[in-house]
Amino acid sequence: MAPTPYVQPVSKSTAVFKDDIFKGKVLFCTGGGSGICKGMTEAVMRHGANATIVGRKFDRLTAAAKELESLTGQVCLPVQADVRKPESIREAVRQTIEKFGRIDFVINGAAGNFLAPIDGLSENAFRTVIEIDLFGSYHTIKATLPYVRESKGAYINVSTTIQYHGTAYQAHVSAAKAGIDALNRVVAVEEGPRGVRSNVLAPGPISGTEGMERLTATDENGQLLVPHEPAPSGRMGTVEDCGSFTVFLFSEVASYASGGIFVLDGAHENIRNQM
Ligand code: HXC
Repeated sequence: MAPTPYVQPVSKSTAVFKDDIFKGKVLFCTGGGSGICKGMTEAVMRHGANATIVGRKFDRLTAAAKELESLTGQVCLPVQADVRKPESIREAVRQTIEKFGRIDFVINGAAGNFLAPIDGLSENAFRTVIEIDLFGSYHTIKATLPYVRESKGAYINVSTTIQYHGTAYQAHVSAAKAGIDALNRVVAVEEGPRGVRSNVLAPGPISGTEGMERLTATDENGQLLVPHEPAPSGRMGTVEDCGSFTVFLFSEVASYASGGIFVLDGAHENIRNQM
């Protein structure tokens, strides 16, 4: 009889951390209206932080903010802004300071993705994703840095694993995310002496997200455009996995973690290293 494959348990809770570790802290999260970044925000708020979530779709943001408040008992401010426009991010930061008086943690999560081969990728299409992902992170770091310095806070820049090998139909996203990995290292080195930390969280495939939906598009024969193997740990990643890791990275127990790129994928990426 074939052995039953070992399946890692799904992390459903961040209860291994005390409830109040982030009491009095404030999170600023771009892309926090849905998916992975909403889950990251929820996890941080569950430990006592208030949060601003930033996105382009105001209806989705306000609904998400209400839900986050009722799930966590904390305050969540939804601010409509486009990370491609530095003045709109500066305004979101201004509103955050007006409401909460400080910023301790920043999640750079706003991202854009679609599958397209390079010869079907117009200049504007390539630029659009670079502007949302990479320039968006840059604008957000610039706008928040004075406050993060003041609180000796931390950044988490959300990347992915697709840029660590050649992923078809992902030239734009691969280039943008590789840039984010590089930006992270520099921020960590430059700001480390001021007590600011910066890390990348690089999730592999995460179930139930818009990004995953977009990456599992099929051709006219129903075949996946970007085939992928199951992770060795026997399951897909979850939004909760990303939330738990976020709590760890922002917490004091991770105070020596800076400049890191933390791949969270159940060893999915390592399959390729065996080939
Ligand atoms: C080729 C495309 C395209 C497609 C858009 N374009 N979709 N080209 N194939 N499927 C082109 C357009 O034709 C246009 O170029 C240019 O891209 C800009 O498109 P717009 O629709 O005008 O841009 P905009 O309204 O700003 O929308 C941005 C977007 C959109 C990225 C295109 O998809 C978006 O808003 N996405 C946000 C949500 C999202 O993507 N979530 C998933 C994130 S997950 P032309 O030349 O015609 O002007 C994620 C994780 C990644 O990022 C890693 C996973 C492992």
